[in-house]
Amino acid sequence: MRYLMTGGAGFIGCNLVRYLLWTQVSAQVAVLDKLTYAGNLANLDDVLDDNRLTFFEGDICDREAVADAMAEAEVVVHLAAETHVDRSIMGGEAAARTNFMGTQVLLETARAVQPRVFLNVATDEVYGCCPQGEFSEEAPLNPRNPYAAAKAGADRLGYAYYVTYGLPVVTSRPANNYGPYQYPEKLVPFFVYRALRDEPLPVYGDGLQVRDWLHVEDHCRAMVTLAEKGVPGEAYNIAAGNESTNLTTIRLILDELGKPESLIRYVEDRPGHDVRYALNGAKLAALGWKPEILWEEGMRRTVRWLAAHRDWLEQSIARSKEYFEQWYAGRV
Ligand code: NAD
Ligand code: DAU
Repeated sequence: MRYLMTGGAGFIGCNLVRYLLWTQVSAQVAVLDKLTYAGNLANLDDVLDDNRLTFFEGDICDREAVADAMAEAEVVVHLAAETHVDRSIMGGEAAARTNFMGTQVLLETARAVQPRVFLNVATDEVYGCCPQGEFSEEAPLNPRNPYAAAKAGADRLGYAYYVTYGLPVVTSRPANNYGPYQYPEKLVPFFVYRALRDEPLPVYGDGLQVRDWLHVEDHCRAMVTLAEKGVPGEAYNIAAGNESTNLTTIRLILDELGKPESLIRYVEDRPGHDVRYALNGAKLAALGWKPEILWEEGMRRTVRWLAAHRDWLEQSIARSKEYFEQWYAGRV
């Protein structure tokens, strides 16, 4: 199978590149990635010399770059995005451009290329906050931050290309991922980085917000299931069934690192903070997928991986010095 993956040098992308190369002997994987602060060729270090992998450095908003990279694709997995909620709160332009306009360029190019399937990776954030119960795929979209709104636009743009042009777009809405290579602006790797340095951990608000944690390897298997069995025009939640408050997650990180809870520092909340995400995963389960990695074991393994890759953490953080200084000024 010939894949085009956008965002393949980022967290989920680099894990999916490896998963495809390791599990499908005949896979040919083209990656299109702009190598923003979050994209890093070092994330693909051990597979870069595999002749089944072709790397295209380019922007998904650039029609020529997209046409070159997509030319041979049978399966498009669209992951490239500006993914950090806090950055989008500081300024939503990059998220609107990449997440919405970039998706439009990819969909338009796909009309000419006619891949067998276009997997449009959205997010559970398109539904907004879920104070109780769970959201099924029929729930109204109610994104509440600029990142999520741009992703919701892209989610429905994919659907519009299915309805209007018959493009075989399958949409996924995954829960919060964790695992190796996550850029350390996100809760888990950021807090591991800071705890290793005995620096305070800035917990937004009361820390009782709930996330459903999906291991990235389970997510990779879900994406392959959807590429093979997803019905065009349909959206699928990818739930993990691992709801945890941020404080519970943070205490687990501290416990694994042998660091004290006195590092926890309650700081000003994220504006518009979604206090809970929760998905009903029955539709994807009906295609035969279920998460396999147990939360506590997966999280402890991730913390150990991050602690063992301290140079990678330091170098990743160094690429965003200005962002961290601005966003956390007055918080820690
Ligand atoms: P990430 O930030 O780690 O990686 C994003 C990648 O996209 C980077 O390699 C970056 O260089 C690339 N990129 C950014 N802008 C680009 C552009 N204009 N052109 C080409 N490449 C560009 O993100 P991630 O966590 O791996 O997320 C991947 C996808 O999964 C995103 O679409 C995100 O919205 C979605 N998602 C992520 C999670 C999560 O918890 N990480 C959960 C649900 C959905
Ligand atoms: O739910 C899926 C989404 O998960 C993806 O679509 C996003 O791309 C991804 O970034 C993630 O968004 P979150 O906002 O949930 O992830 P983040 O790691 O930024 O935050 C997780 C929780 O931790 C959230 O409740 C905010 C809190 N937090 C985060 C940071 C960075 C803190 O309390 N302090 C922090 O410094």
